[in-house]
Parts: sequence; C-alpha cells; structure tokens
Amino acid sequence: MTYKKYKMKKTTLYILLIIAFFSCTKKHNSDNLYSDALLPIIDSALSFAEQQSLLMAKKYETQDGRLPKTYQDGKDMSSDSRWWCSGFFPGSLWYIYENSKNPETLNYAQLYTDRVEREKFTTDNHDVGFMLYCSFGNGLRLTGEERYKEVLMTGAKSLGTRYNTNVGLIRSWDHNKENWQYPVIIDNIMNLELLLWAAKNSEDSTFKNIAISHADKTIEHHFRPDYSSYHVVSYDTITGLPHLKQTHQGYSDESAWSRGQAWGLYGYTYLYRETGEERYLEQAKNIANFVIHHPNMPDDYIPYWDFNSPDIPNTPRDASAACIMLSALSELIDYVNATQAKEYMNVIEKQIRTLASEQYTAKLGENGDFILKHSTGGYPFKSEVDVPLTYADYYYLEALTRLKKKYEK
Ligand code: GLY
Repeated sequence: MTYKKYKMKKTTLYILLIIAFFSCTKKHNSDNLYSDALLPIIDSALSFAEQQSLLMAKKYETQDGRLPKTYQDGKDMSSDSRWWCSGFFPGSLWYIYENSKNPETLNYAQLYTDRVEREKFTTDNHDVGFMLYCSFGNGLRLTGEERYKEVLMTGAKSLGTRYNTNVGLIRSWDHNKENWQYPVIIDNIMNLELLLWAAKNSEDSTFKNIAISHADKTIEHHFRPDYSSYHVVSYDTITGLPHLKQTHQGYSDESAWSRGQAWGLYGYTYLYRETGEERYLEQAKNIANFVIHHPNMPDDYIPYWDFNSPDIPNTPRDASAACIMLSALSELIDYVNATQAKEYMNVIEKQIRTLASEQYTAKLGENGDFILKHSTGGYPFKSEVDVPLTYADYYYLEALTRLKKKYEK
C-alpha cells in the first residue's frame, strides 16, 4: 500500500468512526429503543381518545363559545375563551385528527379553534401562548390555513407587550398578591414557543430576542442548584433583580411543585429544538434528572402534585404533570445519547402503561368525556383536586402522537 493510499484509508476510517458515533448518540430506532409492545397501547389510546373527545365536542357544539374545563362532583365545568386553558381542547382535537384523519374531527377542531380567536388581543396576562399555539398553532401545522397565521402573529404581538426591557422577562400576572412587583411564573416558559414561531415567520427579530432573554433570565433566577424551580419569582422593576421567590400552587416556597417542574422540562426541550442553543439542552437534561431521580417520584412516574408534600403517599397525584413530562421526554429522547435515551424510554413506557390503564383512563362517556382522570390544578386552594383537566389530555395526546411517529420512521 502506498503512503497516499494508507492516508486515504485512515481518513475514511476516521469519517466512518465519526458517523458511527453520531448515529449512536442521536438515532435510537435501530437499537429497538421503542418496544413493539407499546405500539398497540398507543394506538388503542388514540382510538379511545377520538371516541371520547367526539362525545365532548358534540356536548358543547351548541353552547356558544363554551370550552371544556373540568368535571367535578358529577358536573361538567366549562369556560369561555378567557380561561388560560381554552386552547387545549381544540389542540387535543387537532392531535386526534392528525392520527385519524377523520373529517368529523377536523370540523370540530376548526369549530373549537375559532372559539379561541379573540384571545389574539389578550394583553392582560401571559397565557396567550398556551391559548393560541395549542389551538391555532396545531391547526396551521396540519392544514396550512392562511387565516391562522394572522391570529398567531397578532397573538405574539399581544404577548410581546408584556415584556419589560429593564427586567428582561414577560410579566405573568397583573395582580400583586404578596406584594409582587413583577411576577413571573415558571409556567411562562411555555408561552415563548409562540414568539419563536413569530420570529421565524416575520422579519422582526424582537420576538426571538424577547424569548431568549426570558429563557436565560429564567435559568438564572428561577432554578435552584439542584435544578428544581421556584413557582413565582417577582422582580424589582428598578433593579431588574428578583425581590421575592415564592409559590402559588405548590406546597411551600422552597418545594418543587410538580407541574412547575414539568413546564420547565418541556420549555427548555423545545427551546433547544428551536434555537439549537446547547445551554437549553443541558437545562432540560438536568431538570429531567431532577424529576426522574427524585426520591418521592413513584415507580409508575406519575408524580404527586408536589414533590415535597409532607402527606406523600396520602395525597393526590397530578396526571397533568406526568403528561407534560411524558411529552417533553418523548422529544428530549431524540437529543440525547443512547444510555440517556434508554433511561427516558423506561420512564415513558411506565407512564404510558399507567396512564392508558383503567386507573387513569376513563370509560367511554364517563369522567365528563375527558380522557384522563386524577389531575390536580391548585391543591393549596382546594381547586380542581383529583379531577380531569384539559391540559392533561392535550399533552398526553401530543406525547402519543410524538411516539407513534417514531414507529413510522
Ligand atoms: N399555568 C397554570 C398551571 O399550570 O396551573
């Protein structure tokens, strides 16, 4: 072999090794990561979800402007579009339609999505992202409907009005309970996806600058050294620094409210997808590590409503937190190495098997026509405790859809 040939062979070998390394770290389908036994469970959960959600859709069809909220003490509870959860039921219908392609489901997805449209003008709270991106965002992704773009863009502008340059974050609430000067809750990380969509679909870099600033300041001030997060951080509007760190829906100021941890995990996962910034991936992995290995995380990975509730195990679980984590991990699994992916898949599989079982999945026509039981909204103020919630169903369906696609690759 000539020296030139030897050099070429060596270079080819290096290239092959690099390719092999990246295939091992990023692609797992070939390693049987997604067990065949899970697919029928996913399919049957999606098929049940359609039957159940069509009952819900028919129930509210003639109730002008109403959207499902929960089912409590044997009664259906609904809201108008002002409630922060108004986009979740239309969003659920979009995921169901994405899987079934049933024209009846499409009609309902469009009908309920339209019920949320006026929220594009909302400037008095931060929930615009939840309301519009789950409904119109999914609608646009699946149908390309031009009209939906205008709704999303107007909504992103409305959300942007809540950004204060001195603080560098979007204000969550306007009320000043507990002397908050400028309250920002961890949940707010979810609303940035709408801004990143607007940045990609306009010439205006402000949307992205706001999102990045909010995401970075949240890493700086909302998280503790163990990567758990505070629920509410209130900022001093003059110095731009936190003056209070508290809870609203959690057990205590220093506790880890389960849904808050789930919002953080989900938020930094999509922030990595949308920006490619490694610091967001690291943050997501660290949050995942915190929740997965928490000593109070049950074996089925459906967390109690707060990781630090002193009443564990005699206190309610929060299926909604589990579903948000499940959906986040179903995406994060694509960005990590094979060992990490295996660990996430173990969690995902246990969560799906539990959520799809009779313990959590309702019977057809029961549970107020919601899919899942046992979520907890605001435990400290005895609101929506151990009930179905629209966002548990939404993130469950999103996770099932994300996972189903992995089998189709
Ligand atoms: N964003 C409100 C909640 O998670 O309850």
